[in-house]
Amino acid sequence: MNSLRAVAIALCCIVVVLGGLPFSSNAQLDPSFYRNTCPNVSSIVREVIRSVSKKDPRMLGSLVRFHFHDCFVQGCDASVLLNKTDTVVSEQDAFPNRNSLRGLDVVNQIKTAVEKACPNTVSCADILALSAELSSTLADGPDWKVPLGRRDGLTANQLLANKNLPAPFNTTDQLKAAFAAQGLDTTDLVALSGAHTFWKSSLLFIC
Ligand code: HEM
Ligand SMILES: *[C@@H]1O[C@H](CO)[C@@H](O)[C@H](O)[C@H]1NC(C)=O
Ligand SMILES: *[C@@H]1O[C@H](CO)[C@@H](O)[C@H](O)[C@H]1NC(C)=O
Ligand SMILES: *[C@@H]1O[C@H](CO)[C@@H](O)[C@H](O)[C@H]1NC(C)=O
Repeated sequence: MNSLRAVAIALCCIVVVLGGLPFSSNAQLDPSFYRNTCPNVSSIVREVIRSVSKKDPRMLGSLVRFHFHDCFVQGCDASVLLNKTDTVVSEQDAFPNRNSLRGLDVVNQIKTAVEKACPNTVSCADILALSAELSSTLADGPDWKVPLGRRDGLTANQLLANKNLPAPFNTTDQLKAAFAAQGLDTTDLVALSGAHTFWKSSLLFIC
């Protein structure tokens, strides 16, 4: 399949899937959630990503994956951002994230820029969701209006990260079950796997 078409299909489904699922139970999510409190949030996030991706184009894919790895563990609550402390067993050290989760520094950079313009307003979970959307646009993929208004979780769950996030050796049945547990069907699984056509990530799977 033409790889751009694969990206398009994959990303269209991110719109539907990551844009609308587990968190869609919260009826207050709205693309213009910050209209009055931080109207420029989207441009601020976009500007940081645009500038980073000029030197590191791979970051566009990394930020999409970051959102996925957040959402599959306790919903899209930014739990993946919680560092290891005396009380937090960080998801960053879970097997699917260890040595492969890229972009923590960029997310921190985005958060700093957003805090400067709108202190204590925009959640980290929304920053991850917006970053995925804007990375798609900046990669010349489709654009969508991601609903906003998520709250950040206060806990992380490394065990759940190991359980819910798929590994390359998992069987098709395991992958289908893992996605079904998030309310995603087989079409979603296939379409979202198309995100591996970002930059060089597809090579890991096709070769
Ligand atoms: C279906 C099951 C999936 C499996 C088994 C899987 C597995 C992997 C693995 C092993 C890597 C390489 C990590 C590394 O060592 O650098 C990877 C990279 C990547 N995955 Fe997946 N993945 C899956 C689904 C997804 C989904 C749903 C998305 C997003 C919608 C996604 C987006 C990406 C991206 C963008 C990369 C490249 C990240 C980078 O370059 O930083 N993957 N995936
Ligand atoms: C919004 O943010 C962008 C990017 O940081 C900036 O260029 C622009 O001047 C900002 N606009 C307002 C109204 O603050
Ligand atoms: C988490 O760790 C990263 C470096 O690994 C650091 O940049 C960031 O500030 C830390 N976050 C918090 C909330 O301590
Ligand atoms: C992947 O496979 C391992 C080993 O069989 C299993 O423990 C794990 O639950 C599977 N992951 C998913 C998401 O199904």
